[in-house]
Amino acid sequence: MTRLSGKTALITGAARGIGRAFAQAYVGEGAKVAIADIDIDRAREAATALGKGAMAVELDVSDQSSIEEAVEATIAGFGHIDILINNAAIFTAAPIVDITRADFDRVFQINVAGTLFMLQAVARHMIERGQGGKIINMASQAGRRGEPLVAVYCASKAAVISLTQSAGLDLIRHGINVNAISPGVVDGEHWDGVDTFFAKYEGKAPGQKKKEVGEAVPFGRMGTAEDLTGMAVFLASEEARYVVAQTYNVDGGQWMS
Ligand SMILES: NC(=O)c1ccc[n+]([C@@H]2O[C@H](COP(=O)([O-])OP(=O)(O)OC[C@H]3O[C@@H](n4cnc5c(N)ncnc54)[C@H](O)[C@@H]3O)[C@@H](O)[C@H]2O)c1
Repeated sequence: MTRLSGKTALITGAARGIGRAFAQAYVGEGAKVAIADIDIDRAREAATALGKGAMAVELDVSDQSSIEEAVEATIAGFGHIDILINNAAIFTAAPIVDITRADFDRVFQINVAGTLFMLQAVARHMIERGQGGKIINMASQAGRRGEPLVAVYCASKAAVISLTQSAGLDLIRHGINVNAISPGVVDGEHWDGVDTFFAKYEGKAPGQKKKEVGEAVPFGRMGTAEDLTGMAVFLASEEARYVVAQTYNVDGGQWMS
């Protein structure tokens, strides 16, 4: 299919996991994709695997000059940017009494400031170009409510939902649609890490937490990255022109809002 034919996208954190699946889906829909990641070796591997519709770009979303260089490199490679997916994020877990300021700062620098300042840099380019655009932020069901052990990550994703609302309302007058996707539990390397945290804090055997969360999903299993690609393509397409400042749950029925 070619619902994104002629479009160009920058996807942060696309070297692996959900971002990589988005990149693959977008190339399959006819878009050119910049796979932007702090892990440049893996970003290059992913770009090579996707063929000539993809290129790798080095990016640390917690570093303002890196953000500006990555946006410039994408414009230099593709001419312009039609779509941004703010997908890069990190996870952390600890009981409230053990949270460190360093951990809090790192998570907020990447998940929140990274999302805001990527969005800002790409929005400036889109406004200057005058042809609108689509921006998709990756939220989480963790942003819908707090959880014991996951205070910092939950707060960071609640901030992403709030930023999506504010930016969505501000930028629609420039023809830029800002929306978010809120996944539930998606299997992959991210959740391998989450499982390790729960093994540590809840004394569970490795893999036990994953099994439990999968069984708790109304759909009957954890999600896959590919379960999310339909929403990512829709929100980037012309069909989503009247969708503004929303966060969509794609989580097998875990959360209703
Ligand atoms: N996996 C899930 O269950 C789940 C659930 C809800 C929300 N999400 C969100 O979806 C998104 C993708 O999740 P995933 O499971 O693919 O995660 P992942 O950990 O597998 O991938 C994250 C990617 O971001 C990159 N990254 C990390 N720090 C970066 C930085 N400073 N600059 C640039 N890139 C950086 C990593 O190198 C990696 O390639 C994240 O925003 C995550 O919070 C995931």
